[in-house]
Amino acid sequence: MQNPLKPRRKEKMLEDKSKKTKGTREKWDEHANRYDEWYKTFKGAVEHHVDWTLLKGYLPKNRHAKILDAAGGTGRITLPLTKMGYSVTLCDISPAMLNVARQKLLKEGVLNKVQISECDVHKLRFADETFDFVLCWDGMIEAAKELIRVTKKGGKISIFLMNKCGNAIDKFPEDPDSALAMLKSEPSYFYDEEHKYMAVTPEEARELFEKEGIKVIEIYAVCGIFEHLSIPEKVLESRKWNKKFFRQTTEMLLRLSKEPSAKGLSRHLVLYGERI
Ligand SMILES: C[S@@+](CC[C@H](N)C(=O)[O-])C[C@H]1O[C@@H](n2cnc3c(N)ncnc32)[C@H](O)[C@@H]1O
Repeated sequence: MQNPLKPRRKEKMLEDKSKKTKGTREKWDEHANRYDEWYKTFKGAVEHHVDWTLLKGYLPKNRHAKILDAAGGTGRITLPLTKMGYSVTLCDISPAMLNVARQKLLKEGVLNKVQISECDVHKLRFADETFDFVLCWDGMIEAAKELIRVTKKGGKISIFLMNKCGNAIDKFPEDPDSALAMLKSEPSYFYDEEHKYMAVTPEEARELFEKEGIKVIEIYAVCGIFEHLSIPEKVLESRKWNKKFFRQTTEMLLRLSKEPSAKGLSRHLVLYGERI
């Protein structure tokens, strides 16, 4: 299989990257004040619960461990980490997303536990092997090399990846040719608005990360399995919910996230691995 973590031709890559960076920053700056609102809905709260429950099983036991929340946005994960006693480095390309994070951390009295850095995850300002735990929850497989570089040997990583089958299923109703093309190539690219993303199957993800010196511990299916549960839109968007149904939904999604036969259905995969 061709290795997509290998750099493409340098000039073309730099040109693409600077266009993409500007567009990404603008998109997230514009979205910053609305981002946390979605997590107050039933759907957002369930997805947060699933993400957080999976993450908790991998956090370092030592509360003095150095954690990087790369592309960490408004601090959805940084904030609860600081409440558990960890110190976190939060980096993101969007100053507006970081500004929302800063206000939240200040309000909760934990800003002193966070180092905030505006930077691109493809070009991190940290020395090799700085962090015991690196998470990057924005589906950027191209940044994997850089994220691995700043992880200590023996440290862990948690990376969101675009799931090839789940994205092809989403794409099929509007563009069957592209959906089929995605499934035929390995790994494959798809377009979200003006951006190009790389999507992989769990098996391709495992192979790619193992080539980069990561022992893959587990790959879970997250985001987008909801659609297959056929929960009415009204319930998904509501801001008040039945606690029992919340528990049932989160249990269902957590079980499916680990179920090999269901892994193709989700929009994202989250890979947990250890740098060896
Ligand atoms: C979907 S949000 C996720 C935020 C956070 N990780 C979470 O799970 O709530 C995506 C974030 O990635 C950031 N981002 C996108 N591309 C980036 C890049 N190249 N470098 C750093 N941050 C980036 C965006 O600014 C945005 O805050």
